[in-house]
Amino acid sequence: MKQPDSRLPAGRYRIETWGCQMNAHDSEKLAGLLEEAGYSPAADASQADVILLNTCTVREKAEEKVFSRLGSFRPLKDQKPSLIIGVCGCVAQKEGESVFRRSGLADLVLGPRAIESLPAMLEQVRRDRSRPVDLERREDSVRFAGHRARRAPGAHAYLTVMEGCNKTCTYCIVPATRGREVNKEASEVIREAESLAAAGYREVELLGQNVNAYRSGRLHLDGLLRMLQRVEGIHRLRFTTSHPAHLSLEIIQAMRDCPSVCNHLHLPVQSGADAVLERMQRGYTRRRYLDRVEKLRTHVPGIALSTDIIVGYPGETPEEFRQTLSLLQEVEFDQVYSFLYSPRPDTAAGAVEDGVGVGEKRAHLAEIQALQQEIQVRKNRELVGTVAEILVDGASRRGRGQIMGRTRSNRVVNLQGDGALVGRFLQVEVVSAGPNSLEGRVLAPTGLDLDKIAVYK
Ligand code: SAH
Ligand code: SF4
Ligand code: F3S
Repeated sequence: MKQPDSRLPAGRYRIETWGCQMNAHDSEKLAGLLEEAGYSPAADASQADVILLNTCTVREKAEEKVFSRLGSFRPLKDQKPSLIIGVCGCVAQKEGESVFRRSGLADLVLGPRAIESLPAMLEQVRRDRSRPVDLERREDSVRFAGHRARRAPGAHAYLTVMEGCNKTCTYCIVPATRGREVNKEASEVIREAESLAAAGYREVELLGQNVNAYRSGRLHLDGLLRMLQRVEGIHRLRFTTSHPAHLSLEIIQAMRDCPSVCNHLHLPVQSGADAVLERMQRGYTRRRYLDRVEKLRTHVPGIALSTDIIVGYPGETPEEFRQTLSLLQEVEFDQVYSFLYSPRPDTAAGAVEDGVGVGEKRAHLAEIQALQQEIQVRKNRELVGTVAEILVDGASRRGRGQIMGRTRSNRVVNLQGDGALVGRFLQVEVVSAGPNSLEGRVLAPTGLDLDKIAVYK
């Protein structure tokens, strides 16, 4: 069989990503594999020889978007029949072969735990236009050598420490797509963090669907954080996503003791009503969740908390919904991501009959969002006049001459500045505040290293 000429450039690629941070980082790994195979990035889909959609299926809408995006590639494919379109990520895992039935435009289907197969699959498609599928549940993503990923510019880097989820939340499709939990060995995690530091990264975000269930031998997440704290050059550590039932006191103590661990935690609560939490099989009560919040706030001063809420879980009564509102009032989260319940196939709740109308559910969602908006405006306004350290992430959505960064507490700060500041730490004064972001003014001369300015949490 004729092998492709490795001296010829393989072409250009484009990856589009939906879903969680895990997917965002998997896309960086897929990009790394493509570049090893000789592909270079394309400015947009119309320039690409390979298009990969790294997909999410957590809610039905996310999946619909994938198929409508696939359909939009028809003119490109008509123009360039050699174009290869791959479906990766959680929709790939869920749908498998049937991706080809739902869209005649897809050429390959690659599950999230089999990403190392990508180069071989591309070769196969190039060779004989067969439509390969790999849904094997291997450990490609956690085993992936970090230096091979093609990371986004800046000083922030993702590091996958575990993948999969052993929980049984009744609404959730993730365990069915990502499989059982697998962990990256602690020594590997440390090595990867060291190489990230050597490459100039200053903030590392540990990833896992259930990251605080991490274990490597007898070591748990708290031990891993304490080891990572000693990696020179890494000034900020984050980890996501945490499950409230696995948030041990030891982890909270590690957050308290390790200056590089940021004072922010995303801790999805889903509902404020015990009966709903029980029906969801979340494994904690409202009381226990509030107890965790109190411990976090006692041990980690100034900690910012964010959460996820599902509105309209099957059978949710108005009274149960009001308990979620009251939880939001009680905790005053810094950020809330709220979603309408979306029935997913092969989940325990997916099949449950529901008498509550969608109109009522939408009204509840709007009520949650309005309440939370009020809380965020009030809390953010209290920050006006304070000074914070930000790490500049990139251009701001606000447009030209504007950049954005994040505080240690994960608040977005927009400010005047040019792109050369990406990846730098700056000291800024907060000059105004909206519900979702702050406006800042640089205090310390730009271009200073973190080591030369005050560091505070
Ligand atoms: N592993 C993470 C993320 C899971 S998905 C975790 O355990 O938190 C991210 C969020 O999507 C969940 O926290 C939940 O709020 C939401 N979600 C999951 N399944 C959903 C469904 N069927 N309908 C609506 N929202 C859902
Ligand atoms: Fe889904 Fe629950 Fe696992 Fe999170 S903990 S990924 S919500 S099953
Ligand atoms: Fe979506 Fe899969 Fe992440 S379903 S939220 S991309 S784990």
